Amino acid sequence: MMNIGIIGYGSMGKMMLLKYLAATGIDQSGFYIANRTYDKIKNLKNAYPQLNVCASLAELAPAVDIVFICVKPLDIKTVLSGIIGSLKPSCHIVSLNSSVLFSHLERVAPNRKISKAVPSITAEVNQSVTLVCHNQLVTQTDKTELYRLLECFGSITEIPESELSLGSVITSSMPGFIGALFKVIAEEAVKHTSLPKETILKMFVETYYGTGTLLLAKAMTFSSLIERVATKGGLTEEGTEVINAQFPPIMESLFAKTLTKRKAIIEQSIIEFNTLDQQ
Ligand SMILES: NC(=O)c1ccc[n+]([C@@H]2O[C@H](COP(=O)([O-])OP(=O)(O)OC[C@H]3O[C@@H](n4cnc5c(N)ncnc54)[C@H](OP(=O)(O)O)[C@@H]3O)[C@@H](O)[C@H]2O)c1
Repeated sequence: MMNIGIIGYGSMGKMMLLKYLAATGIDQSGFYIANRTYDKIKNLKNAYPQLNVCASLAELAPAVDIVFICVKPLDIKTVLSGIIGSLKPSCHIVSLNSSVLFSHLERVAPNRKISKAVPSITAEVNQSVTLVCHNQLVTQTDKTELYRLLECFGSITEIPESELSLGSVITSSMPGFIGALFKVIAEEAVKHTSLPKETILKMFVETYYGTGTLLLAKAMTFSSLIERVATKGGLTEEGTEVINAQFPPIMESLFAKTLTKRKAIIEQSIIEFNTLDQQ
């Protein structure tokens, strides 16, 4: 049985750990958690007595066969440098961050099996499209073991590292964009009704969920969906025309800004990793 380490108990690390621990028949003693602020994890022992709640990275590193690094990009170098000396040579390192490049991770962790696994917050309801990619040393067996652990989040899509920027915008960032979009739509909708905001929100979210389910279940294209709903001369057609005329520049700007920001994060992490060479 593999020992599984999770470093970082923020949004992603907490979601992963609690999801694994909630699975039936799981052996809590095979899980190790560490976080910079120990106070945030110290009470986990009360709910999960067999869980290994580690006071330091040094306590976690030698014990695990696979380690998920769930920290922000600028903290990855510190974490990796802190564990590399005591990890088992066979330990599979998995970064949840899509921006820090393999070539930089490998400077701190040469000759190590390294993967990236980028889930989305929708993993909480088993609906994540988790993007994965691997360095050369990751074997088919390592992939199978990793996918077995990621399966409970939803589906898994392997893509080249070079496609992670765009890929993670449309999977892991998208729930945030959808939330922002819904907020604008809901705020506009309530101006035109006396129905309570909660009713509007429920109608809206359920319709969104139903639309996604329909598209998937019937393998329907966006165009055929529009054709079915926006009948010629009807009011939906009026609305879709507004979207077609005014929405593309907004999306153009969203993709441009997001991808530029990602480039900046990648460059910042390159600077961070380059300082290692000068130390
Ligand atoms: N959030 C998402 O939807 C999402 C989706 C896909 C991928 N990701 C990626 O997942 C990673 C984590 O994101 P997040 O949203 O979970 O971040 P987060 O909520 O800010 O959590 C980061 C955690 O890392 C801990 N940490 C930082 N340095 C550490 C160290 N040296 N040793 C141990 N723990 C340390 C922090 O501890 P403290 O308690 O001391 O702050 C914090 O609990 C990021 O690289 C992100 O790009 C996030």
